[in-house]
Amino acid sequence: MTEGSVRIFDTTLRDGEQAPGAGLTAAEKLEVARQLVRLKVDVIEAGFPAASPGDFEAVQRIARETKGVAVAALARCRDGDPQRAVEAIRVAERPHLHVFIATSDIHLKHKLRIGRDEALKQAVEWVRYGRKALGSDAEIEFSAEDASRTDVDYLLDVYEAVVAAGASTVNIPDTVGYAIPAEFGLLVGRVVERVGRDATISVHCHNDLGLATANTLAAVQAGARQVEVTVNGLGERAGNASLEEVVMALRTRPTQFPDLGSGVQTEQITAASRLVSYLTGFAVQPNKAIVGGNAFAHESGIHQDGVIKNPLTYEIMTPQSVGLSGSQLTIGKLSGRRGLQGKLRELGHDLEGEALDGVYRQAIALADAKKEVTDADLLALVEARSSEVPASIALEGWSVTSSHGGNATGTVSLSIGGDVRAAESTGNGPVNALFSAVDKAIQPVLGWRPVLTEYEIKAVSAGEDAQGQVLVRCRRSSDEGTGALIVSGHGLSTNIIEASLEAYLVATNKLHGAEINGVDAAFVTRARTEDIP
Ligand code: KIV
Ligand code: ZN
Repeated sequence: MTEGSVRIFDTTLRDGEQAPGAGLTAAEKLEVARQLVRLKVDVIEAGFPAASPGDFEAVQRIARETKGVAVAALARCRDGDPQRAVEAIRVAERPHLHVFIATSDIHLKHKLRIGRDEALKQAVEWVRYGRKALGSDAEIEFSAEDASRTDVDYLLDVYEAVVAAGASTVNIPDTVGYAIPAEFGLLVGRVVERVGRDATISVHCHNDLGLATANTLAAVQAGARQVEVTVNGLGERAGNASLEEVVMALRTRPTQFPDLGSGVQTEQITAASRLVSYLTGFAVQPNKAIVGGNAFAHESGIHQDGVIKNPLTYEIMTPQSVGLSGSQLTIGKLSGRRGLQGKLRELGHDLEGEALDGVYRQAIALADAKKEVTDADLLALVEARSSEVPASIALEGWSVTSSHGGNATGTVSLSIGGDVRAAESTGNGPVNALFSAVDKAIQPVLGWRPVLTEYEIKAVSAGEDAQGQVLVRCRRSSDEGTGALIVSGHGLSTNIIEASLEAYLVATNKLHGAEINGVDAAFVTRARTEDIP
C-alpha cells in the first residue's frame, strides 16, 4: 500500500451505511471492502460492532479477510461497546479502534445527560482501555462528537487528556455540518497546536450546508492529516465529505496542498462509486462532481470545440484519471475471455476463475439478446454478481397477459425450499399481477408476503434493446412500524418484467434469510441506538 501524506479513512461502511435505506448484507459489505482495498484507501471503517450481531460479524469478516489496509471499528465510550469493537478487529492486520463521546453542551445536556467532567472521564477511560487491549502498535482514535459546536477550551482539554491516555489520532467531527471553512480551519489549527506533535489530527465533516468537502480541505490546509470520507458522499442526512472530491482536489491542486497527496488509486474511483450506488440503491445525481454521469460531458458547442482542440480548455482532470475508460467495448459471440478480462480491468474489476467465467457466459448470452454490449452493460453484469444471495425461493417460470385499458393476469411457478408451487393473480399492470402471484404462492408457506416500498427501473445503456435494471425495496407484511427491516433487491435483464421478478425474489429471499438466521446474522444495520451519530 502506498500511503500518502494525508491518510484516507473511508467510512462508507459505517457512516455511509447509516443513511436510511442503505443497509447492506455482510457479504455486500465485504464486496465494498474489497473495492476499497483496490482503491487503496488507508483505513476502512467497517462498522459499529456493538450495534448488532450482524454488524459485529461483518466487521470481523472484513478485519479477517482484507489485507494491506487498516480496519477500524466504532464504539461509544460505554461499557460493552469498546470490548465488542476490539474483539471484532483484533484479527486485522492493522486494527484501528475508534471511540467517541459527544462533547458539546447541547449533546451533553439533552442526549447524554452528563456534565463535561464526566464526559472527559469516560473518554479517557475508554481510550486507555483500547490502548491496553490492542497494544502499542494499534491505532487508537478518539472523536469528540459535535466538536464544531463544543466550547473550544473544553474541547482542547479533552483532546489533551485522551492523547495522554494513549490516543494516537484525535478526530474533529463536524457532526451536524455546521462549520464554515475558514472557521473550521482555525479550529483545526488550534487542535494541531495543542496536540499535533503527539497525535494525528483527523476531520470528519458532514454535508448539511453542502460544505463537507470545503471544510475537509480547509482542515488539511490547517494541518489535519487524516480525512474521514465516504464514496459518493453517502452518509446520514446530507451525507459526509465525498472521498472522490477530496482525493481529486488534493491531486488536481498540488500547489494548494504541497506534498499532501493521498495514496488512492484514483483510476478505481468510478468502479467504487458504481458499486456503492448499486448495492445501496442510492443513485448518483448526474451533476455530482467527479462521479456524476455529466461530470465529463460537454454539451455546449463552445465547450465541445475547446475540448476537441485541447482538453485542457475545459477539463481540469482527465476522465481516465478517475477510471472512465472512454472507449466502448464491442463484445460479440466470438470474443474471448482474455479480451473481456482486459476490458474489465480497464473498468476497475480484476476478475479471474469462476467469477470471470460467470461474467463471460452472461456477456456472450447478452450479445445474443442485444446488438451491442457496452461498458455499462458489463459493469451491470459484474455488479449483479456482487449482490447474489442464497435463494431458497427460485423462479421456475412465469407468464403474463396484459392489454390496453384492462387488468393484467400473471402466473408464476416458484420452487420454495424444493417444493414447486404455482399461483395466478391479477393486477393493474403486468408487474403488479406477477408480484401479487408471487405473494399468493409464498404467503401460505412463509406466513407473510413481501410488501413493496419502492420500485425503480432504469435502462443500463441507450438503445431500444437495452438491459433494464430494477431496484426494489421490500419489508415483510408481518413486520410493521418504523423498526421494520427493509431490504433491497436488484434484477437485470433485457426483459424488464423478468428483471422485476428477479429483483422481487432477491428481496424476498433476503427477508426469508433474515428470518431463518435471525435478522442480525444476515443484515447489518438494524439495532439503531438513539445516540449513534
Ligand atoms: O458524525 C460524527 O460525529 C461521527 C463520529 C462518530 C465520528 O460519525
Ligand atoms: Zn458522522
